[in-house]
Formats: sequence, C-alpha cells, structure tokens
Amino acid sequence: MRAVSANLLAWLLFCTCACVFYVWNRLEGSRLDRFTRGPQSLRRESRHAGGPPLDLSVQTFRALLTVPSAQRLRLGDGGLYVRNLTDVKEQTGTSGSRDDRINVDAEESAQRGGSDLVSLVEEGIFWSGRLEEQLPVSFSEGHARAWRERARGQRVVKLEPGCGRVSNQLATFWDGTKVCVRYGINAEQVQGETLTYYLAGLLGITNVPPLVLSQLNPDSEQWGDVRRHAARLQWSDWAVVSLTEWVANLTAVVTPEPLRQNSEGLRPLPGELGNYTTGELLELMQWTDLILLDYLSANFDRLVSNMFSLQWDARVMERETNNLLRTPRGDLVFVDNEAGLVHGFRVLDMWEKYHGAVLGSVCVFRRRTAQRVLELHRRRDTRTRLLELYGDSEPLSPELGFLSDEHARVLQTRIDRVHRHISHCKGKYQQLGSVTV
Ligand SMILES: Nc1ncnc2c1ncn2[C@@H]1O[C@H](COP(=O)(O)OP(=O)(O)OP(=O)(O)O)[C@@H](O)[C@H]1O
Ligand SMILES: [Mg+2]
Repeated sequence: MRAVSANLLAWLLFCTCACVFYVWNRLEGSRLDRFTRGPQSLRRESRHAGGPPLDLSVQTFRALLTVPSAQRLRLGDGGLYVRNLTDVKEQTGTSGSRDDRINVDAEESAQRGGSDLVSLVEEGIFWSGRLEEQLPVSFSEGHARAWRERARGQRVVKLEPGCGRVSNQLATFWDGTKVCVRYGINAEQVQGETLTYYLAGLLGITNVPPLVLSQLNPDSEQWGDVRRHAARLQWSDWAVVSLTEWVANLTAVVTPEPLRQNSEGLRPLPGELGNYTTGELLELMQWTDLILLDYLSANFDRLVSNMFSLQWDARVMERETNNLLRTPRGDLVFVDNEAGLVHGFRVLDMWEKYHGAVLGSVCVFRRRTAQRVLELHRRRDTRTRLLELYGDSEPLSPELGFLSDEHARVLQTRIDRVHRHISHCKGKYQQLGSVTV
C-alpha cells in the first residue's frame, strides 16, 4: 500500500512539473516572438502549405515577388502580379496612411489564405485596375459640386495670411469654413487657376481643390465685413478672384526618384515598379496624372521650374516641389495652378524643352486619363468641351473670360502630343506585358 502511494505521489509530481514546464515554454516563446517582431514589423507565415515565412516587414513589392514560383500566378494578358496585400476600396475621410492599411490588410489577407493577387500594370502601360481601386478620389465630383454650391456667395468674416504670398489670403466664412482667396495681379493668373481646374475636371483628375469665382463687390453681403481689409491689401473693387477649398494638415512633397533629372524615368518594368510599396505606387500614380496635366497646361511652376533651377542648385530635386502638397492620407493636392494655360502658353518658348523632357520621363498612365486624352484627340473638341464645362459650372465665366483662339489651338496641339506620347509608350512596352514576375 505504501509502495502504491509513493508511486502515485511520484506520478503526480511528474505531471505537475510537466505542466509548469509547458506553460513556461509557451510564455517564453511568445515573449521572444514579440521581441523579434518589434512593434511595427509583420512577420507572417504563408498560409500556403509548405510556403516559407513571408516577411512583410520589408513592405516592398520586390520582397513580395520573392514568394516561390508555385505561389505566383499569371493572369490574363500581360501584367505584373504580386500577392495582394490590400483590398481597400475608396476610403475618403480616413486619416491613416496607406502603409498602415497595408499592414492591417496584409493580416486580413493572410487570415483569408492570402491567395489574391494584385497586378501593377496592365496592357503594358496602364496602372492596373486593382491598384486604381485602392486610390481614393481626392475631391470627388459630388464633393466638389456640393462645396462649390456652399461656397458661392458665402459671407467672408475674416482675411488673414495662410495661403502664400500676401496677395492671396486665407478667408473664413461666417460658418467657420476656410478657403484660399487668390487675387491675381492680372486676369491671366485667375484665368490660369480656374481653367486648369476645369481642364483637370475634363480629364477626370481629382487632385485640384474645388474652386469658385467671386467678384469683389464692396457693397455685397459676401465682402462687406472685410471691405477695409481688402482695401489695405490693395485688392481692386470688382476684380474677379478665385476661392479654393482650404485643406488642413498638408505637408510638402519631394519629387520621386524616377521623375528626377538623370533618372531613367517611370517605366512599366517589373524590376523597377516592383521595388515600391503600395503607398508609393499610389503616389506615383497621382504623379503620372500631374505630369500630364502640367504638360497640357504648360504649367512651369512645379516640376519644370525645379528642373530649370538645377543650373544653380544641383540638389533642388531633393527639396520640396513647388505648389504640390500631400494630405495625411497620401492624396496629392495640386495647388496654385495660376501659371497654367494662359501664362504658361504665353512663355512656352522658354519652358518647352523642359515640359517635353518631363512628359518623356513617364510611360505609365492612368487608364481613364489616357482614355480622356484619346477622346479629346479624336474629336478635336478640347476647346468646346472645356468652354462648356466652365460656362455651365461657373456663373462668373463671362466676367473672367476664356482662352483666346490661339491658346485653344495650343491646348489641342498639346492633347495631340500627349496622345502621341502615350501611343509611343504603348508601342514600346506593350510587348513587355507578357513578362511575369
Ligand atoms: N487649398 C489649400 N489648402 C491649404 N493650404 C493651402 C492651400 N493653398 C495654399 N495653401 C498654403 O499656402 C502655401 C502657398 O500656396 P500657393 O502656392 O497657392 O500660394 P503662392 O502665393 O503661390 O505662394 P508661393 O509663392 O509660396 O508659391 C502652400 O504651401 C500651403 O501651405
Ligand atoms: Mg505658389
């Protein structure tokens, strides 16, 4: 009996020790795991049977391309495909950065089995539909229409600095909304600002803040409260000014490496685009629209002026780009377009070689923008369509005026050139559509 009890006791002691050892082992394992991951890093095991761990902490598409070939798929005709990290639809109003979303969605994707794939480029030269889906609309048509309706005629209660040089002012409406008022030294500046906004609308580019015109009538309810302040600013009565939506928390933007001088340009090559994070690709996508818009409007006051400054400032491209800002979410905001279309066309001789060089540096495009360029090229009706959109949307358009016939012809010629450039890129890279990474 005594021997049986001793055996039982020994057995119980052994079981207790085994349990303590097991629990300690698990705790230690998870502590070590947390330590090696770090707070930001995401090391996840591929859920594919036999798949190696997929290190998402690197977060570049190149890293994702290292998944074994059995995990890569080739879909349809021509494109670059990598494991899908995100499935984000339009998320207007979110404040997190896109790379944050990659982390969250990578986790979801891994939980789902992570079998989706994302393509980067389709038909050789177009940003893929899957990538496009992840790009939120900066200022959607609906938002812009509602903003313009609200802003028109609103009473201005305060003017203060905050929108650049002193002739431009940050205005506050009676309801607390803020707008940037741009007063042009001459009409062509406000024309450039306004017509570029509508040209962007014609092309489906939504990065230009909504805009309405207003006439500085000192006796109007809109300007009465700030009449004296306006006089001190030497704003002439009855001048037509533009009001644009003021956007909070904007930060500076540096030109991405492939778009700087001496770079190879932005080409739809797997070895190049594969190096970027989703956030970076989405920003590059917006840059491709910016470059087309600035070429068409001959706006030299952004990338082109930086290129010009290279003569005396070799590192200018590493500094912030003029008149371009970024929201915390990663949307680019194209501000200050007053050099476009009118002033830009008047001084084309001086800037054209730079405009051409910048356009030539891009061979990836948003499908919709390229489609709109194609339509305007085929129908040769850019002037009519721009005038229609501007005239229908802006009651003060007769006061401000429109492009001269000569400038309307210049714009059509630039549409034709952009179309030719897109066709050239298509001819060059369509074959590469069959490259699989
Ligand atoms: N829509 C806007 N929302 C928020 N801030 C804006 C907006 N427009 C301009 N700003 C602010 O004003 C600054 C100058 O804007 P902008 O380029 O339009 O004016 P500017 O008079 O041409 O100034 P600069 O000569 O410095 O280019 C921007 O960098 C930004 O800080
Ligand atoms: Mg400016």
